[in-house]
Amino acid sequence: MEPIAFVDLQAQYRRLKPAIDERIARVLAHGQFILGPEVRELEERLAAFAGCRHAITVSSGTDALLMPLMAYGIGSGDAVFVPTFTFGATAEVVVQVGATPIFVDVEADSCCLDVADLARCIAGARARGLRPAAVIPVDLYGQPADYAPIQRLADAEGVRIIADGAQSYGGSLGGRRVGSLAPVTAVSFFPAKPLGCYGDGGALFTDDAALAEVLRSIRVHGAGPAKYELVRVGINGRLDTIQAAVLLVKLDAFAAELERREAVAQQYHRLLGNHVAVPRCRPAATSAWACYTIQVEDRDRVKSRLQAAGIPSMVYYPRPMHLQVAYRGYGAGAGSLPVAERLSARVLSLPIHADLDADTVARIAAGVVAATRS
Ligand SMILES: Cc1ncc(COP(=O)(O)O)c(C=O)c1O
Repeated sequence: MEPIAFVDLQAQYRRLKPAIDERIARVLAHGQFILGPEVRELEERLAAFAGCRHAITVSSGTDALLMPLMAYGIGSGDAVFVPTFTFGATAEVVVQVGATPIFVDVEADSCCLDVADLARCIAGARARGLRPAAVIPVDLYGQPADYAPIQRLADAEGVRIIADGAQSYGGSLGGRRVGSLAPVTAVSFFPAKPLGCYGDGGALFTDDAALAEVLRSIRVHGAGPAKYELVRVGINGRLDTIQAAVLLVKLDAFAAELERREAVAQQYHRLLGNHVAVPRCRPAATSAWACYTIQVEDRDRVKSRLQAAGIPSMVYYPRPMHLQVAYRGYGAGAGSLPVAERLSARVLSLPIHADLDADTVARIAAGVVAATRS
C-alpha cells in the first residue's frame, strides 16, 4: 500500500511546479533578494485576502510575535497572558522582551484560550504587583480563538491583544478572516502550515497605520526614514524575496486548497464522529485546518497502533507550557491548569492537506476506528 504522508509538500509542488519555478527564476534574474518587488506584491495580496489594511511580511511566525511586543514597549514588570496549550514560540518571545508569561488554561472542546481563566489570571497578576499588559490568544489547529469576549475583557482591563494566528491564516470568525479579527495578528508561513513557504517566513496584520510603520521599522533594525538612521532598537526580521515568490503562487491556489481541507475535515467528521471526539468549529467560525485533532483515551497506544498500520499521526502538544522545564518557574505546577493537562494526554492529529484523496482519508479513518477498539 502507498505510504501516507502527514503533510504532502511534494504532491503540492508537483501540482504548482511550473508557476513556482517560473516565479523563482524571475527573482534569480532581477537579483533583488532582499525586499524585492515580490515582497510588496505579496503584502498587498495577503492584506486583501485577510480583509485588513496592512500586511508586513517577516522572517518567521516567531518574529511576528516578538515584533508587536517590541513595538508596544512591553518588558520588565509587565504580565503577558499566554495559553499554556501552545507551541513554545508563543511563550518564548514574552521572556525575550523581559516580561513575565502567565499561563492560562484552555477550553476542552476548541483547545483555545479560556476567557474565564484569563480573567482569573489577570486578577492574579495584579495581586502579584505585575502590570497586565497583553494577551496572546492562539488560534490552535487553525480555528480562531473566541475573540469577541477576549476583546471585551481586554478592553475592560486595559490589556492589548496580539493574536497568534500562526496556524490559522485562511480561517474566519463571523465572516471576517484571520488578520482582521484582532488589533494585530501574527501568522507563520512555516512549510507545513496551511499557507507555507520553502523555509521560514511569517507576516503581521493590522489596520493601524502607525503600528504598521513601527513594525516595518523594527523589521529593518529600527531604521528611520534616512539611510542608516536608527530610531529604535529592531531586529533583522525580513522575509526573503524568493519566499515571497513561492507564497505568491501558493496564494493563487490557497482558496481552493482551503476548500479541499474543509472537505477532508468533513469526511473525517462523518467517518469518525461516532467513534472518537472530533474537532468541531464554533458556529460562526471556519478553520484553516492546520491540524485535524481528535481526542482519545489511551492516546499513546492508539498512536502506536496507527503507526503499525502505516498511518502517521502527531501529538500537538504532549506537554503544556507550565510543565516544561524551561517555563515551570512561571507556573504553579501539575494540577494548576487541568484542562490543558488532560488535553495533552488525549490529543492526536491526523494527516490533513489539500492533496489528500478521499480513499486515503477513508483508509486513515478505518485505521483510527480499529486502533481505538479495546
Ligand atoms: C501556535 C504557534 N505559534 C508560533 C509559531 C512559530 O512560527 P514559526 O515556526 O514560523 O516561527 C508556530 C509554528 O509552528 C505555532 O504553531
